[in-house]
Amino acid sequence: MTETVLLVGGGGREHAIARALAASDCDLYACASNRNPGIARVAEGFEALDSTDTGPVVEYAEAVDATLAVVGPESYLAAGVVDALDDAGVYAFGPKRAEARIETDKRFQREFMAEHDIPGCPDFATFTDPEAAAAYIDESNGDLAVKPTGLTGGKGVRVTGDQVTKAEAKGYVRESDYGEFVLEERLVGEEFTVQAFVADGEVRVTPAVQDHKRAYEGDEGPNTGGMGSYSDAVAHLPFMTESEYEDAVDVIEATVDALDGYRGVLYGQFMLDADGPKVVEFNARFGDPEAMNTLPVLETDFLDVLTAARDGEALPELAFAERATVCKYAVPEGYPTDPKSGAKVKVDEQSVARTVESATDESSGGEPRDSAGDALLSYASVDEREDGIYTTTSRSFAVVGLGDTIAEAETVAERALAVAGEEGLRIRHDIGKADLVQQRIDHLNDLRSA
Ligand code: AMP
Ligand code: GLY
Repeated sequence: MTETVLLVGGGGREHAIARALAASDCDLYACASNRNPGIARVAEGFEALDSTDTGPVVEYAEAVDATLAVVGPESYLAAGVVDALDDAGVYAFGPKRAEARIETDKRFQREFMAEHDIPGCPDFATFTDPEAAAAYIDESNGDLAVKPTGLTGGKGVRVTGDQVTKAEAKGYVRESDYGEFVLEERLVGEEFTVQAFVADGEVRVTPAVQDHKRAYEGDEGPNTGGMGSYSDAVAHLPFMTESEYEDAVDVIEATVDALDGYRGVLYGQFMLDADGPKVVEFNARFGDPEAMNTLPVLETDFLDVLTAARDGEALPELAFAERATVCKYAVPEGYPTDPKSGAKVKVDEQSVARTVESATDESSGGEPRDSAGDALLSYASVDEREDGIYTTTSRSFAVVGLGDTIAEAETVAERALAVAGEEGLRIRHDIGKADLVQQRIDHLNDLRSA
């Protein structure tokens, strides 16, 4: 039987999922609030939705006779789309609303870790009273991360001694209307992500990825949803040991054991310091951009993972190509604080792939070389209209370079960006460059020798 898969979401992550599914034997349909041209091109049908309400998603799933669904963004998980699809008899690979609280409710997440003795939990306290939170900030000796309990698109956290002073942090809890905050010990180190496929208590992990949250080069500026990311040809990253990667995997496995009946992707965000990985947060879905690093090197058929999860079979062991990846996002001017939406984006996914191929051929002395897939372009929060593709208020498109080393993947990504065009858009060109990677290594070495 050919599976009919409904993909929910229209960002860069979902374009990467669509591309992985397009390589499998299935009929793909998609729905999202923006018409993502990359997804629309590979899908049999694309439905524009104007909200994350579950009703229209379920209606579309039923209209196309979906046999499976994959949910990308946390907003749909928080709205209970997996529960609603389940009620309608459509298996969705993603957690139900209650299980998604591991991401959508930071208070629940920390209390859950403490209750189950999951390693890597920083000291924390939660507050609904802004004055009590401000007093706690005053009384703490060290620096703190101030985190709204609910979803903020990666933009709600303020870290004292880093982005803000303690006085500014107090102003933030007093003036913002988030309602509840988790205040926790500031972790200092290098961040990385490990994503895992989870079903029936089984865990299949993927290689570590390092995202870059800050808006500007040199890790300056406000936090964003993520400006770009890299992974190495092996599972760990240059600033960590294999055993530190395994420690992070142990944390994910302990979390899955403690969670009852979790299914979908569990994403662990870690801070590596001299004592090992600490948990910054969990997400209940693939990362964006991290999915764009991981799925292109996944050699196992993605659809086989999904159907095994649905059918209660053992998840396949995962195989990955031994290739490094570098992903760079192009974002609207002003993103994330004052993004300019409605600007025309002039890029072409196909020409990026073609040009990188021919450039590679030249550099190999004109020898024919199988370099297809060396660069990929993923459309993100753009909107395709009659007369072209337009920016929204979020990230526009991403380019991913693949190579034998991070440096090679970075060169490929830059070459692809040069073709893609970046007029009116901003890119962190430093991501994946040797200098920045070396700074990460030096940072960890400094912490280890301190
Ligand atoms: P989150 O939404 O929890 O992923 O937080 C967004 C970003 O804030 C993280 O990627 C970190 O860079 C930073 N952050 C969160 N918690 C902490 C912490 N306890 N210590 C230092 N930085 C943190
Ligand atoms: N890259 C951060 C996230 O997906 O939340």
